[in-house]
Amino acid sequence: MCGIVGILGRGPVADQLVDSLKRLEYRGYDSAGLAYLDGSNTLHLDKQVGRVQALIDEIGGDQLPTSTSAIGHTRWATHGTPTIANAHPHTNTDKTIMAVHNGIIENYVELREHLQRQGYQFVTETDTEVIPHLIDFYTRTSQNFSEAFEQALNQLRGAYAILAITSKDPDALYAARLSSPMVVGVGEGELIVASDPAAILEHTKQVVYINDYEFVCVRRDGTYDIKNFKDARPVNHEVETLDYDAAQASMGDFPHFMLKEIHEIPQTIRSATLGRVRVESGTVKLGGLESVAEQLKYIDRIVIVACGTASYAGLYGEYLIEELAGIPVEVQQASEFKYRKEPFSRSTALIAVSQSGETADTIAALKKVEDYGVLRLGVVNAVGSTMTRMTDAGVYCHAGPEQAVASTKAFFAQSIVLMLIGLYLSNGQTDLYKPLLEELNVLPQKAEQVLAQAEQIKALAQKYKDYEDFMYIGRGYAFPCALEGALKHKECALVHSEGYPAGELKHGPLALIDERFPTFAVATDSAILDKTYGSIEEIRARKGPVIAIATEGNEEITHLADDVIYVPHATEQTAPLLAAIVMQLFSYYVAVEKDLSVDRPRNLAKSVTVE
Ligand code: F6R
Repeated sequence: MCGIVGILGRGPVADQLVDSLKRLEYRGYDSAGLAYLDGSNTLHLDKQVGRVQALIDEIGGDQLPTSTSAIGHTRWATHGTPTIANAHPHTNTDKTIMAVHNGIIENYVELREHLQRQGYQFVTETDTEVIPHLIDFYTRTSQNFSEAFEQALNQLRGAYAILAITSKDPDALYAARLSSPMVVGVGEGELIVASDPAAILEHTKQVVYINDYEFVCVRRDGTYDIKNFKDARPVNHEVETLDYDAAQASMGDFPHFMLKEIHEIPQTIRSATLGRVRVESGTVKLGGLESVAEQLKYIDRIVIVACGTASYAGLYGEYLIEELAGIPVEVQQASEFKYRKEPFSRSTALIAVSQSGETADTIAALKKVEDYGVLRLGVVNAVGSTMTRMTDAGVYCHAGPEQAVASTKAFFAQSIVLMLIGLYLSNGQTDLYKPLLEELNVLPQKAEQVLAQAEQIKALAQKYKDYEDFMYIGRGYAFPCALEGALKHKECALVHSEGYPAGELKHGPLALIDERFPTFAVATDSAILDKTYGSIEEIRARKGPVIAIATEGNEEITHLADDVIYVPHATEQTAPLLAAIVMQLFSYYVAVEKDLSVDRPRNLAKSVTVE
């Protein structure tokens, strides 16, 4: 949600800056802007509504500035509509301080009024504009820019990653964070500050993660100082090495990241299980949980908190962990969880599930239980992200970077990791232990078989692309997968789609069904497949078209459904995951058919770092 980047180098940095901004575009794409210092240390500003490319066209194609110090921003609007005025960077009146910001300044009205009383003029609708003015205000009384920046930070409330450039100190960039990600890339002859490693990894894999209440000053001579601005003490962090390469974060030969990432699902499943599943010895080894193994023995309740797709993986995990380990589990939407008043005991474990590890609501949920003695675990994809540093222990998803705004492969990584946690917690005391371990071994090939049917799924998308409403249903393990199908259809293809447990249909939603309201029914083999047939019959009786996803060899379904996509034989627990691949691909192709912005659906952004 908003991408920020700044580069301080010995040579021209604008090309790199624009390249990094493009890589950050998935975090917000309604406007973009940059600020840079010229050879005579004067600050310049360029902003444009729309994509980063629109900004480049505005600046003049390849004729980018030759500056050696610049900051940039891609915006996802929170305060103020997407206009050039509201695009970042924002500036003080004499244009000597410019800042970009990700997050929300909660007390901006109060600060703005205070600054207006001091004579400051505001020209935008944003909360961010208070930042350069506030720093400016403190430069009047402080010794140097660093001190003014720190004083300003101490007045800001809310969530932010801020990056500032100033002609008052041209050989430095200043950055700070509170509840919003920030990382410094330590390159050869340059330092890069960004909201996301994606903006950095093309240039260096050596990074330093900045924590809450820390500000960093990076200097042209390659040095940097980090300071905690809450208790005014210097901080030292080790330089870490990013563990993925730039190729993983690029589109390769695929037309869209979403398609590439769907095709990475088989590898995602392999990576999630690699070194963790020992089929020969019949064991699951989760190194990330070893440090809390004793505590886990006493856990009698698990709460999974997550948002969106991650919460559907959480629901899948709820069914699994309960069946495998016999521990009561509940999934809560993180945005609701944080405001609920519910009792906790020390024998509760909280599992935060997140691709980015930066989702503000999920972070708030982790913060909420900080003082309850609750064991906090993470199922997170982004290595080194905020959640991984807030939790007591966790299991990485190892899905690699996910660039399309709509989450696809991460759903599988999260679901598989939760399955591993269920198996681990079961201590082998479940009949499903061996069958699921064996299944995990062959699931990637089965996923490949599903992907091989892409043309058939594309044809289905062409057939159904003009329908404006869709229902997605499933029972048991198929239910969370149906929810995932509905969400993908909604956000990527902009189609009204609802996900329901099949048995709920007759309690209301069935009223919607007619010949213009098709249903995707996840009808893979399970002990309760007959019940799903019953729901399909109810839809057929109301003339609703039905697309069924069934297990290969199921002839009966052809008499019930208008269209059938088959998935390979799999366990009752894993077959719905294969169906989820079909539904994700279907949404992708409908979006392409409708010529929509597949990787960047309107109004959305990846990594929702504001509450
Ligand atoms: C849907 C989607 C979102 C995310 C949600 C959580 O396709 O991408 O619903 O799943 O915003 O994000 P993370 O997993 O980063 O916490």
